Amino acid sequence: MRREVDHGAVSPKVAERRFPDPIEQRTRWAAAEAILLPGLVQDLVLAQRRAITATLRMFDRLREEGEFLDELDARLADDEFFRYAGSTVDRSDEREIERVFIDVPGESTRGDEPKRRRIKDLTVRLSWIAHDERDASLRIRFSFGHDATRDWLEPDLRAAWSDRLGAVTFEEHAALRAALARHDVPGALLAAPHRLSELIVYNNAPGGGAVFHHDADPGQRGVVYAQLDGRTVWLALPRRALAELAAAHSAFPADEVFARMLAHDDRAIWELLNVTPALTGAIAAQGALFVLEPGDVLLLPSHDEERCCWHSVFGVGRAPSLAHSLAIFDALPDTLRDPRLESA
Ligand SMILES: [Fe+2]
Repeated sequence: MRREVDHGAVSPKVAERRFPDPIEQRTRWAAAEAILLPGLVQDLVLAQRRAITATLRMFDRLREEGEFLDELDARLADDEFFRYAGSTVDRSDEREIERVFIDVPGESTRGDEPKRRRIKDLTVRLSWIAHDERDASLRIRFSFGHDATRDWLEPDLRAAWSDRLGAVTFEEHAALRAALARHDVPGALLAAPHRLSELIVYNNAPGGGAVFHHDADPGQRGVVYAQLDGRTVWLALPRRALAELAAAHSAFPADEVFARMLAHDDRAIWELLNVTPALTGAIAAQGALFVLEPGDVLLLPSHDEERCCWHSVFGVGRAPSLAHSLAIFDALPDTLRDPRLESA
């Protein structure tokens, strides 16, 4: 169920939860197909139980109109770097609940060493996932700078500080970053050294979830999504494959669906993709439905707008779940290294 539309039932086949070998992973990545890594961070889910439960309770309080700033303050109080710099609410975005700005004060140093720069406008944004009262899903995104100019897509020293802010705020996130680095995910799939940034902490509620979209922003190579508690069900497949399946459930040719699916206001295509249970069934029959269990990691490749993995998420179960998602970018150049982060 998503927003009162019944898309059908799924029974996970435990026996088919096979870990793909490196060749299969590379083949799927090149084809912009989703890659499920079952149980990759299972140990973390057990070891971080206390932190994961604390994050779930925090989301419960926020849903009951708890103060976001109080929650952040409690998590950051002891940190040596981060300082609260203000809050805003974007009235033009109905989904946004609050955006908190965090700075790192500059510091003078000894002798002729350069003064350490002040880091400004790290942002932590709490929002609803949908413009829809039937969907109680929440998310928290860590970023920096201005949305309008899409600062976060450029190599920027603040990206590294934003990464650290996410890891300090959520203990389980620090552990997740370490686990992904240990497993070299998604390292071997990429042509160049990478970083994982733009953390989004998801609390997908039963009956909610994100509708079909892609994340093929310039410079963004893909997404890593780690399920830490509860389950989510995903439809994830390359844009072309989705257009072809959707065309078979409509009066539109596949090329037309392919072209129109990028528009934000195309009601007919939106309904075809998001509220057509027969299409959901056809996508599942093609093997592009994934049930994520705690400890599973899903990789979504984005080579460019044409070759990217489109995805749609369903919150299932009895309680909101917990997942952390990270966007994959090329590593920052050496000129954008901050010694304070290296020693921290
Ligand atoms: Fe996404």
